[in-house]
Amino acid sequence: MAVTLDMNRIPRHVAIIMDGNGRWAKGRNFSRIRGHRAGVESIRAVVRYAGQIGVKYLTLYAFSVENWNRPKREVAALMKLLRRFLEKEVDELDRNDVRLRAIGRISGLPDEVQEWIRIDEERTGNNRGLNLILALNYGGRSEIIDGVRKVAVLVGKGRMRPDDVDEESFRDFLYASDIPDPDLLIRTSGEMRVSNFLLWQISYTEIWVTQKFWPDFRERDLRRAIIDYQKRERRFGGMKASAG
Ligand code: FPP
Repeated sequence: MAVTLDMNRIPRHVAIIMDGNGRWAKGRNFSRIRGHRAGVESIRAVVRYAGQIGVKYLTLYAFSVENWNRPKREVAALMKLLRRFLEKEVDELDRNDVRLRAIGRISGLPDEVQEWIRIDEERTGNNRGLNLILALNYGGRSEIIDGVRKVAVLVGKGRMRPDDVDEESFRDFLYASDIPDPDLLIRTSGEMRVSNFLLWQISYTEIWVTQKFWPDFRERDLRRAIIDYQKRERRFGGMKASAG
């Protein structure tokens, strides 16, 4: 049984549903917001490690379209945390050759957050190491609907025919069509749900769930997830063999 990473079969794209900040905080009698703050430490650790082992794309579910339904105070704190992250981490990301991108309904975010996304994307746009993709105001169904709307506009203008729409061409209408589908989807804190994350893209993605809450997730957990992934056989509905 393999207990070391096979460096020749590192997943190209890892996506993470970072769940359990609230429960982590509750167990310590902390505010939920303190749980989110602790979650940022996990982000730092995972970004560093993913870059080191050669993951090319890391997509983090940081704020969903459904998250607006949380108490106002919590939403405001999450936005503040996000703005601070974008502002404070950009130097470090840039130094480590990380390219930062955001996917989601970005225009629905506070102006300041949008502005920092623009700054970070521009500053790190030529970096060639890890692509760190933050899903912000993101929903998998919204992404598909947004794509369908763009197609409908083109069809309406006569610039595209309904027959031109297929799985390959529709990809161009998603938020980031150049990013390959995730190989591995990790979810923390035990829930066996996809929660409206990357619905189109995870058709053949391997799913790995840990009981750990996100603020407890560290390098060794990502390493364990990847080792498990490397043991799996990926068939893509057909006969294709082995992960990686
Ligand atoms: C889920 O925990 C986590 C989130 C709502 C999003 C994750 C956000 C962060 C890690 C911090 C901010 C992000 C950035 C990029 C700076 P939960 O509150 O749903 O936990 P619970 O299910 O235990 O209540």
